Amino acid sequence: MRKNSERVQTYGNPIIKNIILEVITLMLKKARIIGTGSAVPQRILTNKELEDIVDTSDKWITRRTGIKERRICSKKLGESTTVLARQACLNAMEMAGVSPQSIDMIVIGTVTSDRMFPSTACMVQEALEIEDIPAFDVSAGCSGFIFALTVANNAIRCGTSKRILVAGVERLSSIVNWEDRGTCVLLADGAGAVVLDSTTEEEGILSTHIKSDGTAGKLLYSADGNPYTPEILQDILDKKPFHLKMDGHRLFKRAINCLTSIAKEAMEHNSLSSKDIALVVPHQANIRIIQGLAKNLRIPMEKIYTNIEKYGNTSSASIPIAMDEANRKGLIMSGGYALLVTFGAGLTWASAILKWSI
Ligand code: UT7
Repeated sequence: MRKNSERVQTYGNPIIKNIILEVITLMLKKARIIGTGSAVPQRILTNKELEDIVDTSDKWITRRTGIKERRICSKKLGESTTVLARQACLNAMEMAGVSPQSIDMIVIGTVTSDRMFPSTACMVQEALEIEDIPAFDVSAGCSGFIFALTVANNAIRCGTSKRILVAGVERLSSIVNWEDRGTCVLLADGAGAVVLDSTTEEEGILSTHIKSDGTAGKLLYSADGNPYTPEILQDILDKKPFHLKMDGHRLFKRAINCLTSIAKEAMEHNSLSSKDIALVVPHQANIRIIQGLAKNLRIPMEKIYTNIEKYGNTSSASIPIAMDEANRKGLIMSGGYALLVTFGAGLTWASAILKWSI
């Protein structure tokens, strides 16, 4: 491959040559993942244990969702959104061989920050002792990680950042209604992170696609927050706790359709077919949704990474946790194409294609 300086050797004027070189470098600039990390709480909550909490069974949960167990934060152990996020970031930086001080931006996808504000990203920045860099959260439900990745990718491509920590982290156990069997058996806690670095090679994040439909927001929402809507005021009058609410049945079909369309959009954008994809890392909401996606994309399940049986649905953390596991198992080879695809509250849905280069 020709070097950028060789491409402009025909231009004699050194000033013009430098300008052209800078423009080409900017045009070629991409973001690539140089390290992945994850962290999950120690406490394992099994389906069997849930049978004592709500009217459910291990058989129903396994057959209808694929989940066998999940991780739940323990206050006693000092686990929180920030603690998990910090550990996932440290693990990603350790793999990348970089120090916290070399990071110039932190972007975190989450809907379960420990506080309404400051953001989880700012709390992680403090925990990692990184000074004077931008750090902020992105709220996009289960699509939070790919939305955060998109923001970070754009910052690197336009040259405002060089090395960014991107994470997805949730503590859904804190907003789940433990009396609602329709949701409490699904949702869980965890964190995943990546270190993004800039590159001018043909590798890394080739594209991201992100979409939202606010008109269907009521299919999955949390009543937490400023109590100004009539429904939430009614909740207060009824003395109901402000919990996450989900119309799972109506979301199910929508999830498969949105995941399929945005995965196809990503492949078409990069002139890739299903056969070119080495590994799909989907959001882990329900094994039947993932199987529906696999069928629509004509991709065998062996090429789709799933760990829902161990962790349940950890929202924005599910993709970076799965990606870290797949990476550490050596399932994504350097030069192979990975497709990330997600769907969640908002509604939001998103995809990314990576040419793996760790
Ligand atoms: O993270 C991104 C956003 N979330 C999603 O994309 C989730 C999408 N939805 C789903 O994954 C599934 O719809 C669920 C797992 C939430 C529910 O599975 P389903 O097969 O769609 O069940 P359903 O809601 O149609 O309910 C079927 C039956 C109902 O009983 P009846 O009315 O037929 O008597 C439910 O009350 O299953 C019952 N049910 C349960 N039974 C035992 C619902 N939850 C449970 C449970 N244990 N935990």
